[in-house]
Formats: sequence, C-alpha cells, structure tokens
Amino acid sequence: MSITNNFRDVIGEGGFGKVYLGNLSDGTQAAVKVLSASSKQGYKEFLAEVELLLVVHHRNLVPLLGYCNEEKIMALVYEYMENGNLKQHLSETRADAMSWEERLQVAVDAAHGLEYLHNGCKPPIIHRDFKSSNILLTRDLQAKISDFGLSRALTTSRTPMSLLNLLALLGILIQRAVRQEFSTRKLILTVSG
Ligand SMILES: Nc1ncnc2c1ncn2[C@@H]1O[C@H](COP(=O)(O)OP(=O)(O)O)[C@@H](O)[C@H]1O
Ligand SMILES: [Mg+2]
Repeated sequence: MSITNNFRDVIGEGGFGKVYLGNLSDGTQAAVKVLSASSKQGYKEFLAEVELLLVVHHRNLVPLLGYCNEEKIMALVYEYMENGNLKQHLSETRADAMSWEERLQVAVDAAHGLEYLHNGCKPPIIHRDFKSSNILLTRDLQAKISDFGLSRALTTSRTPMSLLNLLALLGILIQRAVRQEFSTRKLILTVSG
C-alpha cells in the first residue's frame, strides 16, 4: 500500500483490476496491478502471470519486480512503462501520433517477444491475449508484451484436440472477432493511412 502512496495514481485498468503508479524504496517507479474482488478466475490468472514472469525473461517482455500474495491483497509489481500501452498511441485523437518508423520498430519488438515465447521457451508458451492494450512502451518507445494471465505452456502431449474443445475454441475466436471488428478496422485504417 505504501509503495502506491495509498493507491493514489491509477495508470490503467483491465479485467483483472486497477493498475497504480508506485515508488520503490530506491526511488524507481513501478506499476502495481491489484487484483480486485477476490474472484476465482482473477486468482487463477494472477498465479499464471506470477509463475510465468518469474521464470521467463526477455527484453521485449515486461519485467516483474515482485508480487504480493496475501489473503486480503494480491498484487503484481512491474517495471513502469512510461509510455503506457500501444492502443493509446494508435488513437486517432492523439496529437503526437507515432511515426511509421516508430510503428515498425514496435511491431518488430513485439514480434521478438512472441518469437521468444514460441521458439525460445521450452515448452513453448502461447500468450492467448495478444492485443495493442497488452503491448507496453518504455520512455524511448521500446515495446514489451504484458498481461500473461491467460497464457499457457504448450505441453508436448500429442493428444488430439477433442471435437468439443475445437468447437469451444472456434466459439471464442468468433466472439473475439465480432467484438474486435471495429477496433481491427480502425487499426487497418490507421496502418494503411
Ligand atoms: N508496467 C506497466 N507500466 C505502465 N502501465 C501499465 C503497466 N502494466 C499495466 N499498465 C496499464 O494498465 C493496463 C491494464 O494492465 P494489464 O496488465 O493489461 O491488466 P488486465 O489484465 O486487467 O488487462 C494496461 O493496458 C496499461 O495501460
Ligand atoms: Mg490487459
């Protein structure tokens, strides 16, 4: 609580809960993601994110500095990304639009992060929630992938996917496609100028 100055500055919000600006004892800034009402799903995602970020490190993945897993408060402490998330930068209303070079560099950075998860980790890790609000930017616009609550390690088991699993997966993909149609269109327009 003290590192967030009593939860004073909210810097982001997602399905998990609010994200606050924090100050560590050595003066470095941090982002503190606090799990809201103790939902079972939220707790599962909290554990998945801690377990993954404690063992997986790469310059294009957001670094976890610590976590708090107490009965009353569960929080993740990350390195603070001064330029927030990519979605904010792609907004049409922003005056300081990113240049094409910067956009390309962000895409390359994010691709490096994904490439590491897929080919540099054993077993490979799939993020499962890769989108512009989960790509964070440092002060000099270096991109780092964040939000690993839904990520999974791909086991090497060769059990074929059941028809039921396949249908469930298709359902999720269709739901997402419908939900994201608008923002995807916007993104394509932004990219094609
Ligand atoms: N390390 C960070 N530095 C700066 N802002 C952050 C950081 N982590 C999260 N945020 C902000 O909070 C938002 C929500 O965080 P995220 O990890 O995606 O949580 P959720 O699981 O709730 O979606 C992000 O889109 C971003 O704007
Ligand atoms: Mg998110």
